[in-house]
Amino acid sequence: MTLTDTLNRPLRDLRISVTDRCNFRCVYCMPKEIFGPDYQFLPRAEILTFEEITRLARIFAGHGVQKIRLTGGEPLVRRDLHLLVAMLAQLPDLDLTLTTNGSLLARQARALKDAGLKRVTVSLDSLDNKIFKAMNDVDFPVEKVLEGMEAAAQVGLGPIKVNMVVKRGMNESSILPMARFFREKGYILRFIEYMDVGHTNGWRMDDVVPAAEIIKMINVEMPLEPLDPNYRGEVASRWKYKDGSGEIGIVASVTQPFCRDCNRARLSAEGELYTCLFAVSGQDLRGLIRGGASDKEISQTIERIWNRRADRYSEIRSENTVSLPKVEMSHIGG
Ligand code: GTP
Ligand code: 5AD
Ligand code: SF4
Ligand code: SF4
Repeated sequence: MTLTDTLNRPLRDLRISVTDRCNFRCVYCMPKEIFGPDYQFLPRAEILTFEEITRLARIFAGHGVQKIRLTGGEPLVRRDLHLLVAMLAQLPDLDLTLTTNGSLLARQARALKDAGLKRVTVSLDSLDNKIFKAMNDVDFPVEKVLEGMEAAAQVGLGPIKVNMVVKRGMNESSILPMARFFREKGYILRFIEYMDVGHTNGWRMDDVVPAAEIIKMINVEMPLEPLDPNYRGEVASRWKYKDGSGEIGIVASVTQPFCRDCNRARLSAEGELYTCLFAVSGQDLRGLIRGGASDKEISQTIERIWNRRADRYSEIRSENTVSLPKVEMSHIGG
């Protein structure tokens, strides 16, 4: 039987954060003032082992999960991640993917592909080094990320998707250059409206460049038309270039929320289950595992949590919700 929540949404997508660490300090995600040298990341013993993650993934698959996305922090800073990929790849009929900042991808692409990873999504906010470095805040150059994408495409981890978070006053000027460049490359570029995740990034509505504005801007130069979703509940709405030269996506969680079909659960690196990206807290599954619970007990716990789920944060977002306590994006991935 398919699990459903209080809004009749099934559980299909599991996003697993494998570490809360990252080698970038993107200003909209892990601002340096908070995530500085003294920041206490999770100690190793608190992080789920590959065996624990795989066991949970198997139980989730039994509840109808069809897609697993590995995230972080930055997932590729977790040592030997390809070993986890190999373990998860044993689960049948899973779409197994990864979201990465691309910095360590060139050297890991082959091992990840061989381990059974299906495709990757790489984040990149600008092609302009000055802007990109101001956003990643660790002086990381654009070329290295492009090399990572290239390596992934070479080994067959495509079609590559590229995530660009658009923040007003920071990288609007990069929208058109990014669209041109990735249309040429044949990668699927997705523009993400800047979101009020966590409580450290100082989000303001004025910082959001609405999806409609982005589409309008591109459409003037490269005419677009809407495409149907690939599947129900797809996060990005799809647009194709009228001349047949490819497609783009837009994740408009602020101006066009998509909670109604949200089938995503998130597992933090320490094994807490979150039923929304904007949740205050998660439910501890690690305690169950390490306390000796059986698969059946864990499965029933997940069922209870999902049955109770009523989250639809983006639909109720307002001036008042912005200051609510929320989990950090780097803690549960995107
Ligand atoms: P594919 O369609 O398989 O490529 O997956 P996806 O669209 O889920 O890809 P990805 O994980 O790259 O998601 C794109 C971005 O959308 C994420 O990085 C988040 O910023 C945002 N996002 C993903 N899921 C949610 C969600 O449930 N709610 C909100 N508000 N934003 C989300
Ligand atoms: N708003 C929108 N997207 C964000 N991401 C991280 N923080 C935010 C935010 N505040 C994106 C990253 C990456 C994905 C995991 O989530 O850039 O593409
Ligand atoms: Fe790291 Fe991704 Fe957050 Fe940037 S957005 S700090 S790359 S986890
Ligand atoms: Fe799902 Fe929460 Fe995002 Fe809505 S805000 S789409 S419920 S994760």
